[in-house]
Amino acid sequence: MTQLSAAQNGASGSTSGPSGGGKTLYGGKGTRRITVRDIAAAKERGEKWPMLTAYDATTASVFDEAGIPVMLVGDSAGNCHLGYETTVPVTLDEMTMLSAAVVRGTSRALIVADLPFGSYQEGPVQALRSATRLVKEAGVGAVKLEGGERSHRQIELLVESGIPVMAHIGLTPQSVNAMGYRVQGRGEEAAQQLLRDAKAVQDAGAFAVVLELVPAELAGEVTRVLQIPTVGIGAGAATDAQVLVWTDMLGLTGGRVPKFVKQYADLRAVMRGAAEAFAEDVVSGTFPEESHSVH
Ligand code: KIV
Repeated sequence: MTQLSAAQNGASGSTSGPSGGGKTLYGGKGTRRITVRDIAAAKERGEKWPMLTAYDATTASVFDEAGIPVMLVGDSAGNCHLGYETTVPVTLDEMTMLSAAVVRGTSRALIVADLPFGSYQEGPVQALRSATRLVKEAGVGAVKLEGGERSHRQIELLVESGIPVMAHIGLTPQSVNAMGYRVQGRGEEAAQQLLRDAKAVQDAGAFAVVLELVPAELAGEVTRVLQIPTVGIGAGAATDAQVLVWTDMLGLTGGRVPKFVKQYADLRAVMRGAAEAFAEDVVSGTFPEESHSVH
């Protein structure tokens, strides 16, 4: 796929810094991919940044043109792209295929791929084997896995082996069968556990941590205490970065979306309207017109 780099597409930015261009992650110019070092520098500058999920090359290329600095090939692909009910059935083969497509569709964003359920819970060696596939076969720059204290040994081995890790604590959807979809960290004991989880993943070497569905005040406290950036989803305004699932954010997901989602477009209505217009044109014989015909 032919890509516009952020520099070509006119994203503004100053003279040096991430992506060999502008000083900021979002809005910077790019001649190279953003790295985890750029992410660390953004935390030092106190800069907030956006992350979106992506599951295919075409959509990812649009977000890359828009200057989104970090894209997550989330296992939310399970419910948002592959038609499963939860993230649990997603396989490593599926994640590898989707991640490779997102890498091919982008030239600037740091691509982070989820390790799916069952691909790292056995222990550090299994995690390394799985993450190595995503790095070697798909070409991602980092992986994400769920769990705080319980996943610290996996994170340590991946980081020691040269694979950057984004951690994910709070609500961890791969554990839906055990924890359901409930706000995490409410009450003193649960808040203390979340803080322990956050410190554990930082100590293990994670370069960032997703906080999903935790009270805003607690997410703010975690963000102040940690040196690594926090990426919030349903975690209030105080985190260093914000992530949304792209099909929720653009109104493509059918049915109810979570309260923490802001919808920036109604793609479902746009696509349905266009599909109906096409169908009506075909049925009535008004498409194709002469200008669409070859002779
Ligand atoms: O899979 C995913 O999309 C995620 C985000 C919700 C953080 O893990």
